[in-house]
Amino acid sequence: MRTQVAIIGAGPSGLLLSHLLAADGVESVVLETRSEEYVAGRIRAGILEQSTVDLLREVGLGERLDREGDPHRGIYLQWPDERHHLDFVDLTGRSVYVYGQTEVQKDLVAASHARGQEVHYEITDTALHDLETDRPSVTFTDRDGVEQRLQADVVVGCDGSFGPSREAVPQAVRRTWEKTYPYSWLGILADVAPSTDELIYAWHPDGFAMHSMRSASVSRLYLQVPNETSIDDWSDDRIWEALATRLGHGQDGWQLTPGPVTDKSVLPMRSFVQQPMRHGRLFLAGDAAHIVPPTGAKGLNLAVADVALLAPALVGLLRKDDHGLADAYSDTALRRVWRCTHFSWWMTTMLHTSGDPFDEQLQLSQLRWVTSSEAGATGLAENYAGLPIGF
Ligand code: FAD
Ligand code: DHB
Repeated sequence: MRTQVAIIGAGPSGLLLSHLLAADGVESVVLETRSEEYVAGRIRAGILEQSTVDLLREVGLGERLDREGDPHRGIYLQWPDERHHLDFVDLTGRSVYVYGQTEVQKDLVAASHARGQEVHYEITDTALHDLETDRPSVTFTDRDGVEQRLQADVVVGCDGSFGPSREAVPQAVRRTWEKTYPYSWLGILADVAPSTDELIYAWHPDGFAMHSMRSASVSRLYLQVPNETSIDDWSDDRIWEALATRLGHGQDGWQLTPGPVTDKSVLPMRSFVQQPMRHGRLFLAGDAAHIVPPTGAKGLNLAVADVALLAPALVGLLRKDDHGLADAYSDTALRRVWRCTHFSWWMTTMLHTSGDPFDEQLQLSQLRWVTSSEAGATGLAENYAGLPIGF
């Protein structure tokens, strides 16, 4: 088998890359270990930045997003007895959209079917070869048990945090940074109308809580829990009670409406960056190169921003023999990666309690500042609503 670009991973970064390349006449084949249904059903991110939405619209993926996505002007930040609205549109002229990763993925899959994109789902034994030559390849076993070799001009690792691509960069070349956090998120999806018009991020002495949503009838909520928490220890009633306490503390007249829980999971948190994001003929994009803790909703948006840079770089390399953007890709992408890594770390450490009374006072002071100073609020808004793709 031969193609111009071998893409490992059919998550949002892999399928979007294949879409952008096809639009510019570059052929690709996508390889994925999971089934198409499994990838499309995974409950993950929910918030799209303005620049993500602009890009999806520009490349013909905005039709359902415009119909079903919900533009939000900002967020609420709160702590006991206080709730403040930050209006990103007033502060920066940019907004965010509630449109789940599941929906983005469905749109990408529909577009891949429409253009006859070659995607091999349910493969095993993915291995990368000859990345330092002009003839790299990927070997795998297809869903019928047949061993295959995909020859390509370029290999792109879009295989998330557990894929083999990042480790295909030799140890002597790669540098990594990692930070783990002493807490996790317990997330639920519930069939109930949101009890709020915009997302609420709540600091509370018992731990962080967040009220997000997926639609007018589906809510998404999160609770800070200790690492190693077992989901079995958290009945639905216990979850709703903790959410009501943390989100409702001192909010007179506001009530959280509980409803049937349809999905429940515990998510660990970490920050991770690997550089460079290119080695020879291998390029990394999305979670394969970097992971952020979820507070601030950057993971999916960062994956989209990588691909928005990478697609024109590969078109230049493969169609015009112009290496400029491809050579600059890693440095350019990493500037945004580190900005989002900082922002996600900052939002996380401002809002999650660690049990240290000194830290608590700093957190409350920081929250008062970002909600009362226009400079503080604008800094948060600029990062949350998203910097332009070329930042
Ligand atoms: P992924 O979506 O991880 O896609 C990688 C794909 O590669 C997967 O489909 C995987 O099956 C495939 N793959 C792996 N190994 C191989 C292999 N050997 N061969 C072939 N294919 C392979 N972000 C937010 O902004 N907000 C959130 O609330 C949020 N919640 C999250 C919850 C969870 C449980 C997780 C894991 C992530 C969450 N994220 C969230 C992050 C966000 O979902 C990711 O940043 C985003 O999915 C990155 O897209 P990606 O395409 O780079 O990687
Ligand atoms: C969601 C997740 C986030 O991490 C966040 O900051 C906002 C919303 C969500 O899943 O809806």
